[in-house]
Amino acid sequence: MKERIEALGLSASQELNNAQSLQEIEALRVKYLGKKGELTAILKQMGSLSAEERPVMGQLANAVRAQIEEVIETRAKELKEAEIEKKLIEESIDVTMPGTPRSVGHKHPLSIVLDEVKDIFLGMGFKISTGPEIEWDEYNFEALNIPQDHPARDTQDTFYLSENKLLRSQTSPVQVRVMEQQEPPIRIIAPGRVYRSDSVDATHSPLFHQIEGLVVDKGITMGTLKGNLADFAKKLYGEDTKIRIRPHHFQFTEPSCEVDVTCFRCHGEGCPMCKGEGFIEILGAGMVHPNVLRRGGIDPEEYSGYAFGMGLERLVMFRFNIDDIRLFYENDLRFLKQF
Ligand code: DAH
Repeated sequence: MKERIEALGLSASQELNNAQSLQEIEALRVKYLGKKGELTAILKQMGSLSAEERPVMGQLANAVRAQIEEVIETRAKELKEAEIEKKLIEESIDVTMPGTPRSVGHKHPLSIVLDEVKDIFLGMGFKISTGPEIEWDEYNFEALNIPQDHPARDTQDTFYLSENKLLRSQTSPVQVRVMEQQEPPIRIIAPGRVYRSDSVDATHSPLFHQIEGLVVDKGITMGTLKGNLADFAKKLYGEDTKIRIRPHHFQFTEPSCEVDVTCFRCHGEGCPMCKGEGFIEILGAGMVHPNVLRRGGIDPEEYSGYAFGMGLERLVMFRFNIDDIRLFYENDLRFLKQF
């Protein structure tokens, strides 16, 4: 029995020292010291020993058990430390490695140009106003001198929410809202979304953006309009930019005009971008119609004003040489990252 106990102690120590994981150690502990383990099995045979032998074997068995427990403890400690060491090596950060690049977003091309336009007008003493995108028929048309049956409505067919509520087809209704709320002098621009029930193609979208302008004061003339818009064009497209004014018709201005700027590609020579014209139309404008001033609570005998409206998408398309309006709304990063 003595030999068996000693052999058991030896093989247990060996196996334990070869164990590679805490699970393995636990399995060995059960194998040797467990209730159904090998040492217990040997001790069960103690009954067949003589009275002198029994305490000697008991002592030996206890010594071997203590020895095995000690080996378990030491080996477990070793394995735990090795595991920590391994983790430390695996998880250490090499500060000389290149980092993971994170992409930072930037402004949409429409916002880039809108912010420039805002800056220019703010610098000229204008304020920024806004109005609702869901608008009354009254403000979108009626107050702008476009009655129910007027053919001018056909050019701005929009989305109706009810008989008299619609998605605004232009930013011009903000003119009336501002006049109702403010006394002259008024100098505002009103940028925002507008809607028309156009089918989508390279130059049409049912949603687009306009920037409205309104100036009302004593002694405002067509000369003021021309001077201010010429200044604006120079600031947006460069000092050598010239403007050209052509007569036009809008219901809410009298007289009305369209304003062109020298083509920023060819500077007036004529090129494919301006279709050989040398000029590109950027906005509609005119002297605010007396009916509109009156509707806004302003006496046309005392005050006069000019107004203008431009399409933001057009400005941006010319500016960045973009040939399809749909690109603005598709959120394709390959497009957006170019600006
Ligand atoms: N609202 C017009 C449109 O959408 C543009 C416009 C023309 C606005 C002349 C004006 C203006 O303020 O005076 O076609």
